[in-house]
Amino acid sequence: MTRLAGRSALITGAARGIGRGFAEAYAREGATVAIGDVDLDAAAEAAAAIGPAAYAVALDVTDQASIDAAIAEVVARAGRLDILVNNAALFDLAPIVDITRESYERLYAVNVAGVLFTMQAAARQMIAQGRGGKIINMASQAGRRGEALVAVYCSTKAAVISLTQSAGLNLIAHGINVNAIAPGVVDGAHWDHVDGLFARYEGKAPGQKKAEVAAGVPFGRFATPADLTGMAVFLASEEADYIVAQTYNVDGGQWMS
Ligand SMILES: NC(=O)c1ccc[n+]([C@@H]2O[C@H](COP(=O)([O-])OP(=O)(O)OC[C@H]3O[C@@H](n4cnc5c(N)ncnc54)[C@H](O)[C@@H]3O)[C@@H](O)[C@H]2O)c1
Repeated sequence: MTRLAGRSALITGAARGIGRGFAEAYAREGATVAIGDVDLDAAAEAAAAIGPAAYAVALDVTDQASIDAAIAEVVARAGRLDILVNNAALFDLAPIVDITRESYERLYAVNVAGVLFTMQAAARQMIAQGRGGKIINMASQAGRRGEALVAVYCSTKAAVISLTQSAGLNLIAHGINVNAIAPGVVDGAHWDHVDGLFARYEGKAPGQKKAEVAAGVPFGRFATPADLTGMAVFLASEEADYIVAQTYNVDGGQWMS
């Protein structure tokens, strides 16, 4: 399978979880993949496990100099940038009356400003190359509807859906397709963190929230990163050339929008 043969991809937050799953899939499809992450040791470990098609890049999406340096490193190593996956994000939850400015600013810096300014830097590079490109933003079912304890995270993911629409409409003039994936619930460190926070705020036993949520997924279980890679490869491939500014649910049937 070489649907991404010869392409150069950068995936943010790819040291673990969904982003790492995408990096493995892109490498299998023939791409060269930069694993960008604030956790450089974990990124290097992931790259080594994937093999010579992958390499680690230090990247903090809240820092403009770091974004610019990461894009420059990708171009220096792979000669070009064809695919960006804006995957890095943070989660937090609290009732409205307990939300702190620190939590709000931390999540918006990564989940919204990080997505916008990494997308901007990648788009500038892709426009300079003159061959178009693919940008995939990681939204969430949380961006489709608010949740009582999850106001900040949900609103950041709604912003990702909106940024995808505007950027998609703007950048298609340069042959750059911008689309998004809205996963439902995906097993891994992220959801272990979510489960722990719900345990604290809803007085649940560890694992209880996860079991309740899994029971509500029409497919019958949490996703694994592998459940999402088909969409991620498709949107990065030329088969998706005519798809512009869309957000696709890959959530086992949870949302229909
Ligand atoms: N796991 C889920 O259930 C789920 C559901 C819907 C959407 N999503 C979205 O999918 C994406 C990936 O989720 P995941 O579960 O793999 O997350 P995760 O928490 O397992 O991994 C996130 C990665 O981002 C990195 N990161 C954090 N801050 C960063 C920064 N400033 N710059 C660069 N990297 C940074 C972390 O080091 C980590 O490797 C996120 O956008 C998340 O919101 C996840």
